[in-house]
Formats: sequence, C-alpha cells, structure tokens
Amino acid sequence: MKCKHAAEYALAVVLLGLGVALAVPAAADETRGSALYENHCGECHSARVHDRAQRLPGNLAELKAQVVRWETELNLRWSDEDIADVVDFLNATKYKF
Ligand code: HEC
Repeated sequence: MKCKHAAEYALAVVLLGLGVALAVPAAADETRGSALYENHCGECHSARVHDRAQRLPGNLAELKAQVVRWETELNLRWSDEDIADVVDFLNATKYKF
C-alpha cells in the first residue's frame, strides 16, 4: 500500500498552494479594477465619461466617493479591495490625481 494516499496528498498540496495564493494580499490592482469596471460599469458609459470637461470628482477622495456611489447604486457589494482596484484603474488611466 505504497501510495494509497498519493491522490489525496496531491490534492492537499494543490489546495494548500491555492490557499497561499489567495491569502497573499493584493495591492490595488489596476488590471482587476479594469475587469470589474468592464463587467459592472461599462453597460451605461464607456470610460470616455471620465474624460468629460466638467468631471465630477476633483480629487482622489471624490473619485472614490463616485465609485462607492455607483457601486452602492448597483448593489454590487464590492469589498474595499474591489473599490480600491477600480479607483486605481480609473485614476491611473483617466484622472491622474
Ligand atoms: C445605470 C447607468 C450607470 C452605471 C451602471 C454606472 N454609471 Fe457611472 N455614471 C452614469 C451617468 C449617467 C454618469 C454622469 C452623470 C452623473 O454623474 O450623475 C456617471 C458618471 C460617473 C462618474 C463621474 C464621471 C466624471 O468624471 O464626472 C464616475 C466616476 C462613475 N460614473 C463611475 C462608475 C462606476 C465605478 C460604475 C460601476 C460601479 C458606474 N459608474 C456605473 C451612469 C452609470
């Protein structure tokens, strides 16, 4: 009964690896933010709305407030990290505060 538990062992190793990968705290991630934005925010406006002359947010805190406003409006229940990622994406590509 040499390797009776080989499969279980392999699975445990994979799950452990996955757990470690998921546990690594992600810093604000633009790529993730971009995907979240595309999926949830792109249906009404393209990212071009953020180029308009009379843009609403005047600083980073106001940008975050806008993202929270829309996220709340749409009842997305985003985590702080999700919000940070989208703020990061919009700030890096559009607002540059
Ligand atoms: C139901 C349609 C709709 C959806 C969905 C939507 N928005 Fe908007 N958004 C608008 C409209 C309309 C405006 C412009 C008027 C306003 O701000 O009230 C706007 C404006 C904004 C602005 C301000 C733009 C500027 O520079 O003045 C931000 C930031 C924004 N949206 C972020 C988001 C984010 C983030 C999401 C996804 C969580 C989202 N929106 C989803 C309709 C939508």
